[in-house]
Amino acid sequence: MAILVTGGAGYIGSHTVVELLNEGKEVIVLDNLSNSSEKSLDRVKEITGKSVKFYKADILDKAALEDVFSKENIESCIHFAGLKAVGESVAKPWEYYNNNITGTLTLLDVMRNHNCKNIIFSSSATVYGDPQIIPITEECPKGVCTNPYGWTKSMLEQILSDMYKADNQWNIVILRYFNPIGSHKSGKIGENPNGIPNNLMPYITQVAVGKLEQLGVFGNDYDTHDGTGVRDYIHVVDLAKGHVKALTKLLPNSGLNIYNLGTGTGYSVLDIVKNFEKANNIKIPYVIKGRRPGDIATCYANAEKAYKELGWKAENTIEDMCRDSWRWQSNNPNGFED
Ligand code: NAD
Ligand code: UFG
Repeated sequence: MAILVTGGAGYIGSHTVVELLNEGKEVIVLDNLSNSSEKSLDRVKEITGKSVKFYKADILDKAALEDVFSKENIESCIHFAGLKAVGESVAKPWEYYNNNITGTLTLLDVMRNHNCKNIIFSSSATVYGDPQIIPITEECPKGVCTNPYGWTKSMLEQILSDMYKADNQWNIVILRYFNPIGSHKSGKIGENPNGIPNNLMPYITQVAVGKLEQLGVFGNDYDTHDGTGVRDYIHVVDLAKGHVKALTKLLPNSGLNIYNLGTGTGYSVLDIVKNFEKANNIKIPYVIKGRRPGDIATCYANAEKAYKELGWKAENTIEDMCRDSWRWQSNNPNGFED
């Protein structure tokens, strides 16, 4: 029996595929490569010594999904496939709602047609909006999202919960990721953003490698210890391991479970800059800019539930995250194109 990993050629997906293979799982990857390279799967093979079966297909393509589910013996799905650029989602809402929501509805339909009702879904701390409780527990009410990307996650959580209410044969795990950074210790796989990065760590590593001149820090007048935004950065390998642990909640009658995957510690933008400089002995020039629209001051998790129920907790330190992010970027200045 295999695990289908949609979006498995991407950043979090490829790291999760490594951990699944390390645990001896049979893995099938489906990805349309719209934001990734098939080379990531070659690298996964270099790391693990194991191959994964790959289908280049779109989750919007029902016939292609039917074909995969007919040919393969799939018992569960880890569903990463989706578009994730916040700013782009504001400019292209239809594309985001179509890709993420219609795509997921299509996948769910094909899954139930094949009586495969076990799914782990990639959600995000963005569903909390401006959180009412810090550290954020899973009971914290969902909030108002500030962009269409966030709404796709929030709406998909609602869709999954309604699917479960109507048919409790589904076993569903919703994982709300905080801010994944870092890369596999080998430096062979990592985050490979198109164009100028939107997220903090890839921006910093591109400054470090000389592709960008300086970091813009978006606001230093927030109500935080140094005025810059505070987030819960989590090593992508810890995040990947959380998915392996979450498989235990896909056993029959597990129901629908929601977990935060974070470290429980918040670091500011300037904390990250300082930690990166110290870990790698590289200076990161920066300039303070105005606030980025839609940003919040503080967001970090209470990750107790995942520890109690899945036996999972993040183990890598901020130093590990900074070192591993840099190893990937310095070994692969042009991502998978080298
Ligand atoms: P990524 O872009 O590296 O991976 C997503 C993968 O999905 C890519 O390989 C892309 O080619 C594929 N894909 C997109 N649309 C598809 C479609 N229609 N059919 C088939 N494949 C498709 O992003 P990531 O950072 O690895 O994120 C994985 C998931 O986690 C996404 O759902 C994302 O929204 C979610 N998430 C990411 C973050 C983050 O900060 N990276 C935070 C919270 C949640
Ligand atoms: N930041 C800068 N300069 C930059 C980029 C970011 O100062 O060039 C700051 C932001 O203002 C914020 C912090 O760094 O305070 C983190 O920003 P990111 O863009 O890296 O991450 P976000 O917390 O804004 O959002 C990320 C993902 C979302 C996801 C969310 C919660 O991009 O998709 O984490 O999981 F929803």
